[in-house]
Amino acid sequence: MPPQITVLDAGGQYCHLIARKIRELGVYAEVAASETPAAALSGSKGVIISGGPSSVYDPGSPTIDPALLSSGTPVLGICYGEQLMAHLLRGSVQKGDRGEYGAAQLDLTGSGTAFDHLFRGISGRQQVWMSHRDLVAQPPEGFDILATTPTCPVAAMGSATDRLYGVQFHPEVAHTPCGKTILANFVFDICGSIKDWDPAGQVLAIEEHIRRTAAARNVFFFVSGGVDSTVAYTLCLRALGPDRVHGTYVDTGMMREGETEFVRRHFEALGARAFFVEDARNLFLSALSGITEPEAKRHVIGEKFVEVQQRILESEHYLDQHWILGQGTIYPDTIESGGSAKADLIKTHHNRVAGIQKLIDEGRILEPLSSFYKDEVRAIGRELGLAPELLDRHPFPGPGLAIRCLCTDDAMNPQRVDEGWILPVRSVGVQGDSRTYRPVLAIESVPDSDDQVAELTNRRPDVNRIVAIAHTCQPIGNLKVMPAHLTAERLDRLRRVDAIVRGMSHHSGFDQTVWQFPVVLLPLGTPQLPDSVVLRPIDSVDGMTARAVRLPPDLLSRLVHELMEVEGIAGVFCDLTNKPPATIEWE
Ligand code: XMP
Repeated sequence: MPPQITVLDAGGQYCHLIARKIRELGVYAEVAASETPAAALSGSKGVIISGGPSSVYDPGSPTIDPALLSSGTPVLGICYGEQLMAHLLRGSVQKGDRGEYGAAQLDLTGSGTAFDHLFRGISGRQQVWMSHRDLVAQPPEGFDILATTPTCPVAAMGSATDRLYGVQFHPEVAHTPCGKTILANFVFDICGSIKDWDPAGQVLAIEEHIRRTAAARNVFFFVSGGVDSTVAYTLCLRALGPDRVHGTYVDTGMMREGETEFVRRHFEALGARAFFVEDARNLFLSALSGITEPEAKRHVIGEKFVEVQQRILESEHYLDQHWILGQGTIYPDTIESGGSAKADLIKTHHNRVAGIQKLIDEGRILEPLSSFYKDEVRAIGRELGLAPELLDRHPFPGPGLAIRCLCTDDAMNPQRVDEGWILPVRSVGVQGDSRTYRPVLAIESVPDSDDQVAELTNRRPDVNRIVAIAHTCQPIGNLKVMPAHLTAERLDRLRRVDAIVRGMSHHSGFDQTVWQFPVVLLPLGTPQLPDSVVLRPIDSVDGMTARAVRLPPDLLSRLVHELMEVEGIAGVFCDLTNKPPATIEWE
């Protein structure tokens, strides 16, 4: 089905989010490479240029076919997309050093046709989400300035005659409440799109696609217990019947407490007749022993996954021509592994490492959900009648607890600074679109507002996160970061604290109010109590941006009480940082 709206990928982590938001409006949208020729876009009713980490002044930065801007097709440039549009049309783009990340106040200062089109139904001061370094200082000739913020003179611009529009902020994220209206104005009023998209109505078409792709072959899955692989597996069961669909769950030892039994129970309930559990706990643990670098851990896990998968494929003869490999890959997975042309390394997914890529290249892969977004997969799952406790599960990363158990070879003390204490651990953050590993600032009193936390993260670019000290067994200056690795003992400790947090947040109903709730183990403590716990409840729409959620005080104090009882735990912290600048996970 041809897309009505094409989103040109200028390397932004938000690129798929834009397409998903358009689909949420009931309009089919797809992502394409930024340099796609204008002629190939002539079938689209409108084009959006996404944000991205580059500066238009960087050599080799993403660009578009300039002919697009005079083709008469409506174009909306978002963030880098706006800067690129201004740059190509001889407006002026000003280079920035530190940039602006987080909430900003938008003043609708414009008037005229372009303003009326893009901001129809919106009035007054609006909160918007910013994530940029450079900015448009002067719009191109013929463009009106539609809106400003205290730091952006051209927060929105437009030319109704040329049907070209640009916004410096991100209308696609939940933290821009008026963003949905802006996108709807562009898609329906400016581009004239009509509603044509409903994922739940696609089940029969997907099943048909599975039968066609599989042809006479059977399908073999590595299932994770997550929503995506379970829905993909269920679709295959329905399309091909239980005898033609096998599933193996690899127990890496990096799973949460009770996970293997949960998965086994649900797959049996789905009617799976050939479901197997592969116990690979020792293999993963020994491969990870002594590794402390976060990206190295991810790499090892990816490699071991492929090794285990390869071994099973070979020993069970799944690689002969009677079988193909089914996967629960969803649409955004491709960009998050750097799969799109210009994306920085956002994360290293295990399902796109070299070994699997080879299978993909050989056409031995069936990915029935590869054009759907997470919420669309859930809608399909509901249509299939899957249990809510499966569909409503919080996302859990493929590398599992390994990336929630921080490791180090060094011994270091927290360092006193004006704002609190710098904890010398490496935690990942995403500024612009690049990943960085930096220490963490621990503060004693929790700021009243998120704005104060954002102000603190902007003021201290040397840290990636701000955590509040909920409780420590001794004054924090007496605690130390000590050499620590991924050992069975630490993983068991993390499993224990994670299970306590999950149990209590489920019973209190808190888990229904958050999108994900990672629990992280830090090697910060004393020789007797070597680790601390970080609680990271967040709210998000799809993990691409996130808001840190504050725990209700009574739940937090009960959690602290229980967690401090666990063997080896010296302290409890709460992560207060939004994404950006911090990622959801700590590695
Ligand atoms: P970050 O930490 O990048 O995470 O803000 C965004 C979302 O992705 C999940 N995540 C992963 N999922 N394999 C996965 O399947 C991975 O390697 C991985 N890393 C992060 C994370 O839990 C969050 O939901």
